[in-house]
Amino acid sequence: MKNLAEKNMMEAVLAKLANCEDARLKEISASLIRHVHEFVREIEPSMEEWFAGIRFLTETGRICDDKRQEYVLLSDILGVSMLVDAIANRKPPSATESSVLGPFYQAGAPARETGTDLAAADVDGDHVHVHGKVRGLDGKPIQGATLDVWQTAPNGLYHMQDQGQDEFHLCGKFQAGADGGYAFDTLCPVSYSIPTDGPVGKYLRAMGRHPFRPAHIHFIVSAPGHKAVVTQIFTDGDEYLESDAVFGVKNSLIARFERKGSGRFEVEYDFVLEKN
Ligand code: BEZ
Ligand code: FE
Repeated sequence: MKNLAEKNMMEAVLAKLANCEDARLKEISASLIRHVHEFVREIEPSMEEWFAGIRFLTETGRICDDKRQEYVLLSDILGVSMLVDAIANRKPPSATESSVLGPFYQAGAPARETGTDLAAADVDGDHVHVHGKVRGLDGKPIQGATLDVWQTAPNGLYHMQDQGQDEFHLCGKFQAGADGGYAFDTLCPVSYSIPTDGPVGKYLRAMGRHPFRPAHIHFIVSAPGHKAVVTQIFTDGDEYLESDAVFGVKNSLIARFERKGSGRFEVEYDFVLEKN
């Protein structure tokens, strides 16, 4: 444990795990140590660069509060959230695919009646009727499924980001009917920028990346005896479908928002849940 240098430092730290009794913690820690040491050996940071990295992580923590989660954002823009999701939620081909939860989900949205309009009366924007069925892999409707829904206002902000919106504006929990059907009205979602006023925004700019997400509505669809799916439906034709800042788009989640004679839009999307 003395005279440690580039070639034996990693092994010395790994050896310190010998008394770790939690097998999973031991496995994860060993992998973390190996990868961080390999990362440092690969990039050979100067001391200034290393402390810039520490400062970045410190600032990322400092800006977090009960309404803002900059670490989730960091994981999202590095594609790590979608990678964890892909591994943790492997699904049969016909089940609804998952997408990133994001930092703007707030549990506790009020229960709403089928057909409710989620938009406040004084907000301008195109309205859309969203409807469809919740089914099992066998194609049969799942009665009593719950759909937890959230989205931004036309200014691209979620209710908790915007003093001008009531709590849980454009959010709600719906119960599917006996036929698995659900329906609600809302404003057409818009493409929007993820927050760029913190360290993650600065990092995106430094990497030469844009911060935009294609227009989408978030859903968590759950039902007794079934695996819940955290997902989003995306507006077909959106200019950011191919370059989502957080890598969340899948072809099966893109839906057509069709303008009807009334001027109102309509979108139909069915969710398919697998059993537990
Ligand atoms: C969102 O869609 O709400 C979101 C996802 C990841 C990062 C930021 C926002
Ligand atoms: Fe979103």
